[in-house]
Amino acid sequence: MKSFKPSLALVAIFAAYTEAGLRFPCSTLTTQRLDPAAQPGALPSAHLHMIVGGNAFNATMEGDVGERATCTTCQMSEDFSNYWVANMYFKDPKNGTYHIVNPKPVQPLLGGSQGAQGGLTVYYTQFDLSRDNLARQPIKAFPPGFRMTVGSPTQTGKPRAGLSYQCMSGSSRGQIVSDWPKGKCNNGIFTTHHFAPCWDGKSLDSPDHQSHMYNTVTSEGFTNAPACPSSHPVRVPQVAFEVEWDTNKFNNLWDPAKDANPFVWSFEGTGAGTHADYMFGWKGDSLQRAMDKSECFYDGCGSIKKQAMSEANKCTVKDFVNEPILGWQKYRAGEAPAAKVKRSFSA
Ligand SMILES: *[C@@H]1O[C@H](CO)[C@@H](O)[C@H](O)[C@H]1NC(C)=O
Ligand SMILES: *[C@@H]1O[C@H](CO)[C@@H](O)[C@H](O)[C@H]1NC(C)=O
Repeated sequence: MKSFKPSLALVAIFAAYTEAGLRFPCSTLTTQRLDPAAQPGALPSAHLHMIVGGNAFNATMEGDVGERATCTTCQMSEDFSNYWVANMYFKDPKNGTYHIVNPKPVQPLLGGSQGAQGGLTVYYTQFDLSRDNLARQPIKAFPPGFRMTVGSPTQTGKPRAGLSYQCMSGSSRGQIVSDWPKGKCNNGIFTTHHFAPCWDGKSLDSPDHQSHMYNTVTSEGFTNAPACPSSHPVRVPQVAFEVEWDTNKFNNLWDPAKDANPFVWSFEGTGAGTHADYMFGWKGDSLQRAMDKSECFYDGCGSIKKQAMSEANKCTVKDFVNEPILGWQKYRAGEAPAAKVKRSFSA
């Protein structure tokens, strides 16, 4: 047999993809007003979320999610975590009605999106995008029951570093900005959510769902994470999600010269209110095994198991809230006067 000599083109591909850590697609699991991290027990929660991951998802989630779930919409089949973000809406400037904006699989993905439906792309990086740095700093996987959030719907001004927007044009993701893009984006709006990489080593949660974590990253992108402070000494994987929102089909319904930005979140607030939620649910020590692997290559780490997205797409949960969210709606989910009355009774 002839020895394998990589072609120049192949070398270029590998050079472009020397990423360290995991990166994989997860299809949409459900779109509902539930938030077991920020509003546990609330049925419904205040605003609508697009949720991906395992089928143990529920209004309240305690204990070992990875043991309870039986399927996941994520490509990594041992990952029963849940990941969620607020939904995007288009608010028609002419008549004020709302239409939900669908997420579409992030491109490019190594090997393509392989039939992922909607959803988002998840990253678990060890140090930065191209180095694992494990000799200096081992990574500790999250324990069962762990959850955290990043960003806040009530934030105004600028979101913190790592929460961003890009106006996609053709194959370019566009400049990273901290608020809604100005003008039309001809290939959708891209949003990124980076979580804090340092943990206090004890708390599965904290009252604000963030102070058990410490963010060392001060700039945009998958930058390296400086050492963790003594208050939060444990380095955990740097979790990030990316979503591509399919805004194109609304582009002929507004005129940037006359109308203000017509895209809004499912909550009342500004572009700075972008946020994301994480509920850990990897089975057994699977995430730890992946993070212990040096030169962990982007879509595979050691013995991590994958499934076909056609299999992942079969995973569902029931509709716990049962309210109309598709098509043109006079109100965002939860904002109709009747829904507000109902909420005050259940408070
Ligand atoms: C959701 O949680 C409730 C309350 O803990 C539980 O009774 C119910 O069985 C759960 N439903 C699903 C589908 O997991
Ligand atoms: C508002 O405008 C959209 C887009 O033109 C249209 O499809 C929808 O039916 C309108 N809704 C109402 C209530 O007029």
